[in-house]
Amino acid sequence: MSEPIPYFDLPAQIRSLRPDLDAAIARTLDNCSFCLGPDVVQFEKDFAKYISAEHCVGFNSGTSALHVAMILLGVGPGDEVITTPYTFVATSWAISYVGAKPVFADIEDATFNLDPKLVERAITPRTKAIMPVHLYGHPFDVDSILEIARRKKLALVEDAAQAHGATYKGKTVGTLGAMSCFSFYPGKNLGACGEGGALVTNNAAYAARARSLREHGSTVRYYYDEVGYNYRMEGIQGAVLGVKLKRLGQWAERRRAIAKIYSELLSVTPLQLPREAAYAQSAWHLYVVRHARRDELKIHLDANGVGCALHYPLPLHLQKCYASLGYKAGDFPVAEKAARECLSLPIYPELTDQQIQRITDLIKRFF
Ligand SMILES: Cc1ncc(COP(=O)(O)O)c(C=O)c1O
Repeated sequence: MSEPIPYFDLPAQIRSLRPDLDAAIARTLDNCSFCLGPDVVQFEKDFAKYISAEHCVGFNSGTSALHVAMILLGVGPGDEVITTPYTFVATSWAISYVGAKPVFADIEDATFNLDPKLVERAITPRTKAIMPVHLYGHPFDVDSILEIARRKKLALVEDAAQAHGATYKGKTVGTLGAMSCFSFYPGKNLGACGEGGALVTNNAAYAARARSLREHGSTVRYYYDEVGYNYRMEGIQGAVLGVKLKRLGQWAERRRAIAKIYSELLSVTPLQLPREAAYAQSAWHLYVVRHARRDELKIHLDANGVGCALHYPLPLHLQKCYASLGYKAGDFPVAEKAARECLSLPIYPELTDQQIQRITDLIKRFF
């Protein structure tokens, strides 16, 4: 059998950056700025510029940034936040962490993202905010959801954890609502050598309070203005992210090219392929195809040495952790069908054209 094709080839990415990463990590070892420090400050400036936002606050994970976003908006017990059931669980954790209730609305079949019409129907007098996700790196329908948010006086938080550099009508996502949160988990388009996240906003007051909340609610050492958290970004992660950010533009182009090749080669198969909406440029974090025989296709690819994954096999409203919310199967049919049919194919800058050819040949053989 030919060489296996991993679902994600992090070792190849790290090899390609190794001298620069070694130098960046050595610099942190020399200056001993392990918690925040100059490399985190520099990365915050550079990432804000990349996103075209005024403020970026580094966190120790995307989950922490989302949690703090809820606190900044004053979301708490008795409040509801509308979000998608078809996302990574950290989106709704943020809502649960502050004692509020995640209220799910179904997604659009074409983009896997929150359906604006259904968002509007989910609003109640207790709704405080809407938190859609740019899932797989594809922007959600921002204008439609922003219009509802403005009309109903609700805050909009973007979960941009998967969408570094994606654009909506030419604007970089992450600056379209009150604030946005990014993840730098190692598997993301921009990933740390460990955990990392950021809160991005154009609002100086939100940024200042986020800086305090990530550091025990403190701006002056050993004086605490409010109950805070230890959510600081590590110095080493700031240094590593600074190295990787320089490559992000070039990586994004390669991801686009890979998506285009997949879409051309797979157009003759019965798979439902991901397509960009007219308003969107996806970050192509994932390339997710759909078919009713998804499980068989996955077994076929696995057996032939091609890694693939499921994002996500069970929507959040059917997860055990949310049983108390009282949802049942059938409540969000579009999300439930997507969960049964989705299959994420390998997509990363190091994937070669030959590997894509082999993957698509295997898929054609399956059908
Ligand atoms: C959509 C989404 N939201 C939130 C997160 C949480 O980010 P982290 O893993 O950095 O805490 C992730 C990634 O893991 C994600 O994919």
